[in-house]
Amino acid sequence: MSETAKIILGEKEYELPVITGSGGEKAIDITKLRDLTGHITMDIGYKNTGVTTSAITFLDGELGILRHRGYAIEDLTEKASFLEVAYLLLHGDLPNKAQFHEFDEDVREHTLVNEGLEGMFKAFPTGSHPMGQLSSMITALSLFYPKSLNPNRPEDAVNRTVLRLLAKMPTICAMIYKKRNGHPIIYPKNNLDYVTNYLNMTFGQVSMDHYHPDPVVVDAMNKLLILHADHEQNCSTSTIRMVGSSQANLYSSIGAGINALWGQLHGGANQQVLEMLEVIRQDGGDVKKWIIKAKDKNDNFRLMGFGHRVYKNFDPRAKIIKKTCDDVLNKLGVYDPVLEIAKKLEEAALTDPYFVERKLYPNVDFYSGIIYRAMGFPTDFFTVLFALGRLPGWISQWQEMRKQKQPIARPRQIYIGEKPRKFKFMQDRD
Ligand code: ACO
Repeated sequence: MSETAKIILGEKEYELPVITGSGGEKAIDITKLRDLTGHITMDIGYKNTGVTTSAITFLDGELGILRHRGYAIEDLTEKASFLEVAYLLLHGDLPNKAQFHEFDEDVREHTLVNEGLEGMFKAFPTGSHPMGQLSSMITALSLFYPKSLNPNRPEDAVNRTVLRLLAKMPTICAMIYKKRNGHPIIYPKNNLDYVTNYLNMTFGQVSMDHYHPDPVVVDAMNKLLILHADHEQNCSTSTIRMVGSSQANLYSSIGAGINALWGQLHGGANQQVLEMLEVIRQDGGDVKKWIIKAKDKNDNFRLMGFGHRVYKNFDPRAKIIKKTCDDVLNKLGVYDPVLEIAKKLEEAALTDPYFVERKLYPNVDFYSGIIYRAMGFPTDFFTVLFALGRLPGWISQWQEMRKQKQPIARPRQIYIGEKPRKFKFMQDRD
């Protein structure tokens, strides 16, 4: 017999179904709770609320496990390319040679963006944050493809939108980089693979045939993008599913996700980590002083890149990134003093009872920024790279939400404001 949960309210007892996931996690299904009892549940920040079933990503925060479609993140980063992982997330399985060839060709076909999009840069003030530019431009894509405004088109039409977005994202990210540096845009070269093409559009120059990135950089970029490719129902992904549930189009749903990612408690943390490490370095590098500040409840300072809503043991992505960071800096011969500070901070925090008791470990953002900086990216561009990596996950989640025919997301609340009162005209008010 399937498991159920009982809830007792006053004299009455109600039985609710229990859902069990393929990884053994359990949820009490409260879909009918209000109809049955007149009560809703309260869970501020959704710390305990499952909003969907999903077949994309499995995550066990206690054991530090992350799998996409059943494949361990450690295997994917070691053995697959980013585009292969994108295929896996979107289609549910790894592609064979022919499937990958077709997918890769389709993506290459769509890398150019409408020249009209470049006009947007005239409107952005000099020095504007790249994440604001990115979300505006991705949302603007919907205006260039008006048919995409309807997310209920036949599957092959929706898939074309998916391919377009996947193909144009690196071009747009690179355009933002070039424009903020006042450099001419480099057009995509479709004989290059996804990651090399992106690096060429970013670091190549018009005068060059094409830029030849160090294979270590290409490999690290592939790994970093894979490590960010999906992370189940986090803040930005949930935003996308929520926006998409109103049947908003894919471009604007992803634009909303980019805005959610921008916040410093989410993807924006990678920029904050580097800025924090720089401040500590310029302050003399006294790690202990900053650990004390992070623990002080009267001080707003938090150790950026530490802690995670779900990982309460370690973030498996952080382990891989730490190693990649050492590899990249060693092979490129880059000495970055903030790496020493990061390692000392990690060491100090991991032995400090405050962090141990609260299960606060380095997350994916702690070391990624140091690698991006060694590659030549400016600090405020780091979150754009996070978005580039997260894109296939976001699209897969949006697709899954559509196919599950989820109803519009509309949480409830408990009102704690004024009781009904009589309106008084202004002249009668005290
Ligand atoms: N530094 C110091 N103390 C911290 C930190 C930190 N980085 N993170 C959590 N804590 C403390 C909190 O003050 C709280 O202490 P208390 O119980 O004494 O009040 C306790 O640990 C639990 O923290 P919450 O904020 O309740 O945990 P929550 O799950 O809501 O937040 C979050 C998780 C937002 C990631 C948090 O750990 C944080 O702010 N980290 C820094 C920002 C960061 O690195 N974000 C990136 C996350 S990964 C990603 O989005 C890709």
